[in-house]
Amino acid sequence: MTQTKTDTPKKGLEGAIAGVTRITLIDGIQGRLLFRGYRIQDLATNCTFEEIVYLLWNGELPNRTQLAKITSELREVRSIPPRLVTILKEIPANAPPIDVLRSGISLLAHFDKETPDNSPEANWRKSLRLVAQAATITAAHYRIQHGHEPVPPSNDLPHVANFLYMLTGTKPDPAVVAPVEAYFVLLGDHDFNASTFAGRVTVGTMSDIYAATTTALGTLKGPLHGGAAEAVMEMLPHIKGPNDAEAFVDRTLAAGQKVMGFGHRVYKTRDPRGTVLKQIYFKNVKTDEQKTWGEICERIEKRMFEKKNLNFNVDFYGAVALAVAGIPIELFTNLFGISRMAGYCAHFMEQYADNRLIRPLSDYQGPAERDFVPLDKRK
Ligand code: ACO
Repeated sequence: MTQTKTDTPKKGLEGAIAGVTRITLIDGIQGRLLFRGYRIQDLATNCTFEEIVYLLWNGELPNRTQLAKITSELREVRSIPPRLVTILKEIPANAPPIDVLRSGISLLAHFDKETPDNSPEANWRKSLRLVAQAATITAAHYRIQHGHEPVPPSNDLPHVANFLYMLTGTKPDPAVVAPVEAYFVLLGDHDFNASTFAGRVTVGTMSDIYAATTTALGTLKGPLHGGAAEAVMEMLPHIKGPNDAEAFVDRTLAAGQKVMGFGHRVYKTRDPRGTVLKQIYFKNVKTDEQKTWGEICERIEKRMFEKKNLNFNVDFYGAVALAVAGIPIELFTNLFGISRMAGYCAHFMEQYADNRLIRPLSDYQGPAERDFVPLDKRK
């Protein structure tokens, strides 16, 4: 079979359709995001994260019995191998938590007898473990990094509440859980985003689901993707107050730099997740400092639209919403990753179910064919 080049390449694969999916629709012109046909706004205000896992993996929202089943299945596989905890304790203290999550997932593969089994049934069971244990690894490592013993997972709390419990050792107030749960739902999936796509490429070689998740997390880390929320919080201290917001935008743009939390490859209007997170942020804001962030953010938002016609993305208000919910800044990328684990697994299972190697072509622009020059004749 002859391979033909079908397109003139666009940098960053802009506009390229890389495959078929039945999981998530993004309409970047209207600013719509649907999981299996359901509007993200409805899901964020009405669903638990477990319902989203079920929806993304099964295609339908669960009834009560189905929800109870997936909730208990996730709960039963929360614990990570004790030897993995020992290894987490040996990791240098300054390792970024997202790197530790990536390494932790990679290590989990060695402890799972089902790692090489790519059957749908085994991948389903491994997906449950990935969703549950990504949260446990993050919480355990955070506590180790701060000089505390990991808190074993609870046997009764739902996924998000249990994650907060494993971080702090205290059963969280439902008012604290609610905004974090909404964040998990909103970030649950996002079509062929860079990290999901990278993971699908790994699945495309018929490698295992742990390898695909490791690929995905390595891709998520970058500040142009999942690392952007932490970058937003690093940006805020450089702004002297609300009256400096416009000047900050002008300074940043004049220096040819990006204002983090703005712009998106697909959304040409507001990212609907960002709109929900903005509401969540303003609903939960408490301290004077947090109120000031709100003023600064709204002024940055206005200035970015005036100067660049760019809207905020999920990470802009996502960052301040997580900060107000008490999530440590260094865990923001992990929160993205452990929420997106639902979507990663949905996409990986979809890829396994109808796989073909993902192998595009390139537009070669290097030197033309030439004769080899022996070492002693080279200039
Ligand atoms: N600040 C300033 N200018 C920007 C920004 C920004 N945040 N984003 C895009 N632009 C400008 C670019 O400078 C460029 O301008 P030009 O045409 O005058 O040169 C134009 O908009 C197009 O930008 P690209 O970087 O080519 O857009 P692309 O689609 O490749 O990138 C991306 C999208 C990576 C999200 C980009 O907007 C960006 O870097 N944003 C900041 C980082 C960020 O918030 N990332 C999170 C994205 S959402 C997510 O992954 C969860």
